[in-house]
Amino acid sequence: MPSQKIIVAPSILAADFSQLAEEIRRVEQAGADWIHCDIMDGHFVDNISFGPGIVDFVRKHTKLPLDAHLMIEHPDHYAPRFAKAGVNSITVHVEPEAKHDVEKTLRAIREAGCRPGLSLNPATPFESVEPFLHKIDILLVMTVHPGFGGQSFRPEMMEKVRRAAEWNKFHEHKIDIEVDGGINAETARLSIQNGANVLIAGTSIFRAKNYRKAINELRGTK
Ligand code: DX5
Ligand code: ZN
Repeated sequence: MPSQKIIVAPSILAADFSQLAEEIRRVEQAGADWIHCDIMDGHFVDNISFGPGIVDFVRKHTKLPLDAHLMIEHPDHYAPRFAKAGVNSITVHVEPEAKHDVEKTLRAIREAGCRPGLSLNPATPFESVEPFLHKIDILLVMTVHPGFGGQSFRPEMMEKVRRAAEWNKFHEHKIDIEVDGGINAETARLSIQNGANVLIAGTSIFRAKNYRKAINELRGTK
């Protein structure tokens, strides 16, 4: 188990959008570390969520770091707009279907003053992110197929988490290892055991009665 602090990042995709400001305030008071913003374009994934306008609104309602996850085509085109909206990190996808020059996009994200992150879908092998590891601050391991909240965690993704943690051991540059999809108290424990240090969770936090209890349970500090 890592001795470093476990970061909990609620995904507002599962929040009640009719009271978004209140939902953000609630998770912040409940001990959330970052706020995760899932951006979907209906092309890279089969769902549409929200864009820079909503992120701008979120920025005005919290001082917590905003972690943008772009599940979109041409993230190079849109990343500057999220940077302008005030996010702290921008994660893009490595799959060719995202239609961008990965290295160029990562560089542009850093130049825009954000932490660059790279994500891989369940079907994408770890090898596809390996060439970029020294250029990123965050590796987001999808533990469900991206597009929808509320799906079941895929334990076989832990191999990628272990390989990223192994990479961290042998390099000065350390990468945050995020898991995203189906994260609850049980799958969070498994992810932490395998080396993840950032837990993204929508359903298990926003559908819980007590946000503080849900966040503490994810962190393993009841
Ligand atoms: C899935 C998104 C996730 C999702 C997690 O495409 O990237 O961030 O919102 O939701 P839960 O925790 O409900 O699986
Ligand atoms: Zn996400």
